[in-house]
Amino acid sequence: MPLAYADRVVFVPGYGRTAAQARRQAAELGELLQERGVAVSYAIHPVAGRMPGHMNVLLAEADVPYPQMLELREANEELGRADVALVIGANDVTNPAAHHPGNAVSGMPVLDVVKAQNVVVIKRSMGHGYAGIDNELYTDPRTGMCFADARAGLGAIAAAAPRRGRPGPGSRRT
Ligand code: TAP
Repeated sequence: MPLAYADRVVFVPGYGRTAAQARRQAAELGELLQERGVAVSYAIHPVAGRMPGHMNVLLAEADVPYPQMLELREANEELGRADVALVIGANDVTNPAAHHPGNAVSGMPVLDVVKAQNVVVIKRSMGHGYAGIDNELYTDPRTGMCFADARAGLGAIAAAAPRRGRPGPGSRRT
C-alpha cells in the first residue's frame, strides 16, 4: 500500500538481500515503480555486500543504472525526501541506535531510513543482524514488516502491483 501511493522510493539493500540473491527481483520492482512515474534510487552502505563496492556491482549486473545508486551521504539526503524506504535484508546498517551511545552499533555510520515517511522492511523474522541487537526501526509506528525471504517478498510485492495497461487481480474489465 505505501508503495502504491509513493512518488519517491529508496531501496535499501543489505547483507540479507545479497544472501538471497534477490538483485534481479529488486531491479524489476524498481523498473515497475519507474513505469508508474515513481523516482527510484538505491541507498548503498559502504559495508553492504561482501566487500566495499560489491553491492554496486551486483545492482549494475541487474541493469540498475549507476546514477540511481547513492552513497551514504547522498542516500541520507534522499531518505529525508522519500515517501517510502524499502529495506531488503538490511538490519544493522539501518539501526537508529547508532545515533545513541552505549550499544554495539553506537557511532557507526548508518542509513537514516527513519527519515522516510514510511518504511517497509523485508526480512524473515525479527532476528538480529551481525551486531546482535534489536533494531528500533522495526517497532516504529511508520514501519511495516514484511516477513519473507528477500526474493519471495520482492516477487510478491511486484506481483501485487499491476503493470501499466494491464488489469490487476481485482480489476473489473469494462
Ligand atoms: P545484518 O545486520 O547482518 O543483517 C542482515 C539481515 O538480513 C538479518 O537481520 C536477516 O534477518 C536478514 N536476512 C538474512 N537472510 C535473508 C534472506 N534470505 N531474505 C531476507 N532477509 C534476510 O546486515 P547489514 O545491515 O547489511 O549489515 C552488514 C554488516 O555491516 C553487519 O555486520 C553490520 O554489523 C555491519 N555494519 C558495519 C558498519 C560499519 S561502518 N563498520 C555500520 C553498520 C553495520 P532475518 O534472519 O530475520 O531474515
